[in-house]
Amino acid sequence: MNAVDYLRISLIDRCNFRCQYCMPDTQDWHFLQPADVLAATELLALVQDVFIPLGFSRFRLTGGEPLLRPDILDIVRGIVALPQVKDLAMTTNAFLLEPLAQDLYQAGLRRINISLDSLMPETFATIVGRDSQNHQRWHKVWAGIQKAYQVGFNPLKLNVVIIPGVNDHEVLDLAALTIDRQWHVRFIEFMPIGNGDLFCDRGWIPSEELRTRIRDRWGLTEGQVQGNGPADVFQIPGAQGTLGFISQMSECFCDRCNRMRLSADGWLRPCLLNETGQLDLKTALRDGVSTGVLRDRVQELLELKPEINYKERQSGTMGANYSRTMSQIGG
Ligand code: GTP
Ligand code: 5AD
Ligand code: SF4
Repeated sequence: MNAVDYLRISLIDRCNFRCQYCMPDTQDWHFLQPADVLAATELLALVQDVFIPLGFSRFRLTGGEPLLRPDILDIVRGIVALPQVKDLAMTTNAFLLEPLAQDLYQAGLRRINISLDSLMPETFATIVGRDSQNHQRWHKVWAGIQKAYQVGFNPLKLNVVIIPGVNDHEVLDLAALTIDRQWHVRFIEFMPIGNGDLFCDRGWIPSEELRTRIRDRWGLTEGQVQGNGPADVFQIPGAQGTLGFISQMSECFCDRCNRMRLSADGWLRPCLLNETGQLDLKTALRDGVSTGVLRDRVQELLELKPEINYKERQSGTMGANYSRTMSQIGG
């Protein structure tokens, strides 16, 4: 059993994109009211007085899109200032990153994972939705990636969800980004959760098949393992960066799960795919429950987590009975 020391914190449920696999714009979205979102002070109190004393030391800020939080720099500064924090990272779509990258670095953030599902502006626009004719979106994201690299974020990871028939023909081009740059490209198996009509019933491509394509072109060696997540890491021989494969469909990594998730409205979830056992920390905090009592409740949930992790897998119904979307949980 892995120690659970990694908390993924969703800062906001809103997003400026509508990725077809996450938050399709064919649906009506009802977002949280600002008053229902954990304020920075509440979040920091939970991190400092509940999670850190329980052994959490690695944190990731997610969304929706975390850069839509106006107080993002204060949140980064607040978490980085806690001496027990060993790692703070962010997952972003990078649309707003270029003007913010330097400030984020100065605030103490060192690690960023960016979604980049295509190198083709037209395909990218189709995937991220909202305005499928707007090819400028890709250029803005690309500028954000370049800026983050220049500012010194390291490791810089690019997340690619492989969608059959949409971007799978780009696997070699995306993998090639790692040859001359110290970028880490991770291919994520497409999950059948919350997909829009355009993307549903497409199935998914096993990571092993992608590795075969890459191996046939350049060869592939096992890479240095880095990161807190479930990626299996490989490398094109001689490349500066690495290739990660996140294979939640073809492989069960629940037995090495080291994380919990906190939603923007303060629900603590022990498992991405199973809603059992969630705790409403925000309401408790606002009702005046002490952080000491909250710590005991989270401790109880930590003890139950192994059982919760496995249940959904054994039932073989990934994503069924799923009431929140990936964007509400932060992936
Ligand atoms: P590092 O390895 O520390 O950089 O982080 P990470 O890979 O955990 O973070 P990131 O937000 O980049 O995660 C990439 C994607 O991996 C997520 O968006 C999910 O699709 C998938 N993922 C991450 N954690 C889990 C998990 O616990 N279960 C499942 N099924 N998928 C996960
Ligand atoms: N399948 C796989 N990954 C997904 N993500 C969101 N929805 C899905 C899905 N249906 C992940 C992507 C994105 C992150 C925010 O969430 O990796 O980069
Ligand atoms: Fe796309 Fe990420 Fe926004 Fe979801 S949260 S719509 S994956 S950019």
